[in-house]
Amino acid sequence: MAKQNVYDNEAFFEYFKNCRSSEVNFNDCIETPILLSMLPDLRGKTVLDIGCGMGQHARQYADMGAESVLGIDISEKMLAYAKAYNSAPNITYERMAMEDIAAIDGRFDLVTSSLAFDYVEDFGGLMKHIRALMKDGSEFVFSMSHPMASAWDGAYDRYTRTATGERLYANIHNYSVEGLRKVKWVIDGYECYHRTVSTLINALVQAGLGIEECRESSVPDELREKHPDIFGGVIHRPDFIFFRCRKAE
Ligand SMILES: C[S@@+](CC[C@H](N)C(=O)[O-])C[C@H]1O[C@@H](n2cnc3c(N)ncnc32)[C@H](O)[C@@H]1O
Repeated sequence: MAKQNVYDNEAFFEYFKNCRSSEVNFNDCIETPILLSMLPDLRGKTVLDIGCGMGQHARQYADMGAESVLGIDISEKMLAYAKAYNSAPNITYERMAMEDIAAIDGRFDLVTSSLAFDYVEDFGGLMKHIRALMKDGSEFVFSMSHPMASAWDGAYDRYTRTATGERLYANIHNYSVEGLRKVKWVIDGYECYHRTVSTLINALVQAGLGIEECRESSVPDELREKHPDIFGGVIHRPDFIFFRCRKAE
């Protein structure tokens, strides 16, 4: 099964690190507030964060009272940053591909993932492995690119614009064609997987994960109006989709 490790590409890592660390970014302004609002009380809980990246979420979970957090990621560079800037005594960072999580010895009170599942080829298989790592009755909360955002071919702008550059419409390309998309984004040949909404839902259901909540990202009007260059398109389509699921007792 193909495993991409684009975050260890020097240029890509630097780009991502700068975006993720900037004052106004999609993660902190859009993704994180929604994801955090979907989490249960973390006090005393054991947490697995898949695709933990630079560790910002793992650190938040530790600060929210988690007993322990295991963050796994395929990228050495992302983990080196996490260990340097987002460590805590109860956080463990481990280099591991999400395709290999069946090797983890342990069960968790909460499994989370932020914006990492775009990179997995076998989404259905991953959901089954995740279920096996969850304690009975525990929750699984994750975000990923919204299928309307991943239905992009990279050849054209993501938006149809006015003559002055204002975003008029979101361009959706081949929504029903699932699978690998290789696009030019920061680097040539950036790879991610596009799946439809129904494929995501059916994979969760077939893995035995009960969906309790689904959210789609939006941005408050004030933020969109304050930063039209960054968030001006968000009104046309959601960037991210979120699920909160439970493993039946
Ligand atoms: C968009 S970043 C998100 C990082 C972090 N969760 C956050 O919210 O800031 C995607 C992360 O997924 C990781 N990733 C990509 N493919 C992976 C794989 N096959 N196994 C584990 N991690 C992977 C990348 O290295 C990267 O750190």
